[in-house]
Amino acid sequence: MNFQLTEEHLAVQAAAREFAQAELLPGVIERDEHQKFPAEQIKKMGELGFLGMMVDPKYGGGGMDTISYVLAMEEISKVDASASVVMSVNNSLVCWGLEKYGTEEQKQKYLTRLATGEIIGAFCLSEPEAGSDATSQRTTAEDKGDYYLLNGTKNWITNGSTASVYLVIAQTDVAKGHRGINALIVERGMEGFAIGPKENKLGIRGSDTHSLMFTDVKVPKENRIGEDGFGFKFAMSTLAGGRIGIASQALGIASGAYELAVKYSKERKAFGVEIAKHQAIQFKLADMATNIEAARLLCLQAAYDKDTHADYGKSGAMAKLFASKVAMDTTIEAVQVHGGYGFVKEYHVERLMRDAKITQIYEGTSEIQKIVISRELLK
Ligand code: CAA
Ligand code: FAD
Repeated sequence: MNFQLTEEHLAVQAAAREFAQAELLPGVIERDEHQKFPAEQIKKMGELGFLGMMVDPKYGGGGMDTISYVLAMEEISKVDASASVVMSVNNSLVCWGLEKYGTEEQKQKYLTRLATGEIIGAFCLSEPEAGSDATSQRTTAEDKGDYYLLNGTKNWITNGSTASVYLVIAQTDVAKGHRGINALIVERGMEGFAIGPKENKLGIRGSDTHSLMFTDVKVPKENRIGEDGFGFKFAMSTLAGGRIGIASQALGIASGAYELAVKYSKERKAFGVEIAKHQAIQFKLADMATNIEAARLLCLQAAYDKDTHADYGKSGAMAKLFASKVAMDTTIEAVQVHGGYGFVKEYHVERLMRDAKITQIYEGTSEIQKIVISRELLK
């Protein structure tokens, strides 16, 4: 294992940092307050290649490795986790799933535009009554010969109203349990497809979270991903990589808060000295830095496993479990280092603290990561 970053890795990291500081930082507080989707910024991220980083260049992607993706996700998430969740879903759930399991026709029709950011995608597994318990899908995709008739509701869908392409998981044959589930490509605007109102959230408020309703939507058979009954495995396998993206989002939120805490502690004076001179503050910074470094190594380990075609289910789940806790702990302490100023919006750390929480919930809660890890340990 050698985590010496290459020149290419460093260039990607620098480009993401520069973009985040120049394009995402201005307006991030207002977007959070007004729940405004970062539409212009996402468009630019597509133009710069951040939305299809790992996709083969023949489909319009950057052909980069997962380590580059982790580094870019960290930099973007330091500043705007609402933008980085769009990046994570598009890269690791939608593009990856289509590239790995889609037909050549599906790749030509959808992946080529998703990888360049011309359009963005959504991944639709969760339902009002099926979140962690993802096999109990209520949405049905009835086999009607040359099409599926899709009925049901999906909940909490990121990019819900901004996506053009939705990968929808639904039950075709209840008797077969999870082996009767399919993954279908649904296009925005298909008859019978409706989008609910935007959720009013604690964090990542700029991101676009909606429920989706399907009423007798006719989805052509050629839009099924993989063999009949492959949908649940498609979702699980895709989420294994997605969790590396969310782990690096959590890492970025933590390191963003840490950098702000270091800067502030050198500026703010109390009892005649900079607060950084008080050992209580130094110890907080030392704990933050140590935890962040450990989280970064777990993220890079999972990325390395994926890049070297080793099993990354456990390492990705470990990275997400640990980095999301580090994000919570670090952001809470960063607010503390800022005192009262940490409690108001101008100093960014209160937003990072609110944004951190979602990393312990989506793409599998922390409890679900422990199930995934312990099953691997005990098998
Ligand atoms: N790759 C391929 N197949 C896998 C797999 C993987 N990583 N993990 C499990 N499977 C297969 C199993 O082999 C099994 O198939 P067989 O019976 O044929 O062997 C099948 O899937 C069912 O697996 P389990 O028996 O383990 O299923 P379970 O009911 O016990 O549930 C679970 C397992 C891990 C808890 C799963 O339900 C889960 O991951 N839940 C969390 C759901 C989740 O992460 N949702 C995220 C939604 S997307 C999102 O959140 C995006 C966002 O916010 C931005
Ligand atoms: P539940 O499954 O009801 O869990 C409630 C609590 O019980 C949790 O603490 C959980 O860990 C615990 N629990 C449940 N089962 C067990 C168990 N077996 N052992 C121990 N503890 C357990 N989903 C998508 O498909 N696509 C998206 O794009 C997407 N984006 C999201 C964006 C946001 C902002 C949010 C809030 C959610 C998003 N989700 C998305 C849904 C997300 O993945 C689910 O919320 C998550 O998987 C948890 O499901 P749930 O909310 O139904 O909670």
